[in-house]
Amino acid sequence: MPTLSLLPASTSDYRTLAEKRLPRFLFDYIDGGAYDETTLRANVGDLQSIRLRQKVMRDVSAIDTKIEILGERWAFPTALAPVGMAGMMARRAELQAVRSADAFGIPFCLSSASICSLEEVAKVAKRPFWFQLYMMRDRGAVLELLDRAKAVGCKTLVFTVDLAVVGARYRDVRNAMAGGGGLWPMLRGRYLECAMHPRWAYDVGLRGRPHIFGNIAPFLPRASSSSIDDFVGWIGKQFDPGVTWKDIAWLRSVWPGNLVIKGILDPDDAASAVDAGADAVIVSNHGGRQLDGVSSAITILPRVVDRVGDRAPVMMDGGVRSGLDVVKALACGAKATLIGRPWIWSLAAKGEAGLIGLLRTFKGEMKVGLGLTGVPAAADVDAAVLDR
Ligand code: FNR
Repeated sequence: MPTLSLLPASTSDYRTLAEKRLPRFLFDYIDGGAYDETTLRANVGDLQSIRLRQKVMRDVSAIDTKIEILGERWAFPTALAPVGMAGMMARRAELQAVRSADAFGIPFCLSSASICSLEEVAKVAKRPFWFQLYMMRDRGAVLELLDRAKAVGCKTLVFTVDLAVVGARYRDVRNAMAGGGGLWPMLRGRYLECAMHPRWAYDVGLRGRPHIFGNIAPFLPRASSSSIDDFVGWIGKQFDPGVTWKDIAWLRSVWPGNLVIKGILDPDDAASAVDAGADAVIVSNHGGRQLDGVSSAITILPRVVDRVGDRAPVMMDGGVRSGLDVVKALACGAKATLIGRPWIWSLAAKGEAGLIGLLRTFKGEMKVGLGLTGVPAAADVDAAVLDR
């Protein structure tokens, strides 16, 4: 196996470093996907197999990676996707992430299942960050979360729709992260394993500060008693599999900002989302963590763009591992991309400097992609840069 001697140069280097640093069950929780992980592999592989078309002798002396979407200017067409429990991978990881995203001029999306709360993130954020919502059965709790998001200045709500039932991630089953105990083993039992990784325990500040689900913790008193078992059980029962397009209309009526629907893999569903009032959609299979066997996000993307691209911006995530992948996604019709695992790997590997380094790498790769396909502005990329 090649050893990684000096500085991480690519996303996969950060992954290698993260694997060394994290306890196995946490690395697997990030890295893994559902069942046989065929969709997870397809997300990455299908993007890699797209070929770009080189064009030379064009003036590419000024390369511009900026885009504009939903009334926001992004310095680069990649946002940090919502990742639950990110704060288990690095100390107050959500704070490190929002600072890095702000420094880079791109959106950060806070998961409803984050470790740091909306309020804690807002204290360090320099510009509005996005908030991701899972629909809970307790609609009062949803309203409270939305009020908190509004109060801290979030302008974009990402509503994730592909978790009606939870796909089994076998690595988590093997590591006792899933199954009967759900999150419970991680919250208590796995600390034993963590104790064997003093560096990790130090990295996440486990010794200094209790880990808690910042956004959901205030609902603890709603559980039948205030024990942690009830709390975790309460979270597990809250995901509402009865959600339909009507709930988007309800969300629309209570959320005044941008509403983005994440987890779309079908052109008809994309049209239903936009009909129900979505301002944008994200083509996503949850990074291959839900229904194994569905096509890669990049394969579905052009069909969704054909269907709703003239009515709403379409973004995509799943398998984006470099700035060249971003160029390819734009060429397939995305207005922007999001990354999930890469930002977690980089934070786990090297903290905030790692994430900044990763984003710089993406930008450098994208500049080369734009320069050598002869399209100096990200906003102008289209299918002409592909070698069909
Ligand atoms: C996720 N994802 C996710 N999505 C979401 O809407 N809310 C969430 O809380 C989470 N949590 C989560 C945890 C972990 C560990 C991963 C890897 C992913 C999905 C995420 O937002 C995104 O769709 C994928 O990660 C994109 O695929 P890549 O970039 O990881 O290949």
